[in-house]
Amino acid sequence: MPKNRLAKLKTAARIVRELYRDHDTIGKRLEALQRVAWELVPGYRLTWPDSDWCKDSDFNQYLESTGQLKGMNTHNRMMLAQLLRLSDNVPGDTVECGVYKGDSSWLICAANRSSPLSKQHHMFDSFEGISQPGSEDGQHWTRGDLSFGLNGVQERLKEFEQTAYYPGWIPDRFQDIQDLTFSFVHIDVDLHEPTKDSIEFFYERLNDGGILLCDDYGSAFCPGATKACDQFLSSKPESMISLPASGGFMIKGQQTGKNFWQTLA
Ligand SMILES: C[S@@+](CC[C@H](N)C(=O)[O-])C[C@H]1O[C@@H](n2cnc3c(N)ncnc32)[C@H](O)[C@@H]1O
Repeated sequence: MPKNRLAKLKTAARIVRELYRDHDTIGKRLEALQRVAWELVPGYRLTWPDSDWCKDSDFNQYLESTGQLKGMNTHNRMMLAQLLRLSDNVPGDTVECGVYKGDSSWLICAANRSSPLSKQHHMFDSFEGISQPGSEDGQHWTRGDLSFGLNGVQERLKEFEQTAYYPGWIPDRFQDIQDLTFSFVHIDVDLHEPTKDSIEFFYERLNDGGILLCDDYGSAFCPGATKACDQFLSSKPESMISLPASGGFMIKGQQTGKNFWQTLA
């Protein structure tokens, strides 16, 4: 094992040992976790574990079905579920660009099924993984990452009726739905080019009060996606609202104030 890795592990073990020795309380265990996390992954922050949604059995059952109950996607899944509620009464269909195994589309379809309005869910994906990253996309992704076949997604979502699939490279199939309007647009393709194509196409088709959520906004793994959103919205009244577990959204027709940190000097 490399020396600095061993040193980090030893420091982490020492922190846990010291904090446990005298004070085995929840507060001390959290403090130990926080310090160990910061030691192993500098800058990493934990959240409080007392939120009601952590104990929501329906939500936990959904997470279990995705294999993510103990994973890193729980916060953005919760945000997706909550933002869908905001657009429940906005007319228009829903769309996802970047479907992978269908786990986020499952939440969108479940929300549509309970909506008072009739909404169809449209899904765009190569079903062959991500396209070739470009110069804006950093080093994290390789063409073909996150490949999952169409059949597996159709099986995952078979309980829902109002679904439509458009296999192909974005934006090749967008013309198939050019006359529709939308209440909720989920963009999750990780890269600059398909994010730009998606926001350009769907912004004008998003009804007032509708939500555009980009799962990759503000993620260090997806600098091109963040740039695509900010550049497109720079000439629009709305801008992206950042979410704490990365991701960002805008509400169509809702003018957004400046990021006030930039005004403090
Ligand atoms: C992060 S995954 C989507 C995850 C999914 N939204 C979820 O939360 O469960 C990214 C998806 O984008 C798709 N993708 C990436 N670039 C694409 C492109 N240029 N055209 C079509 N699909 C693309 C990949 O095939 C992959 O399924």
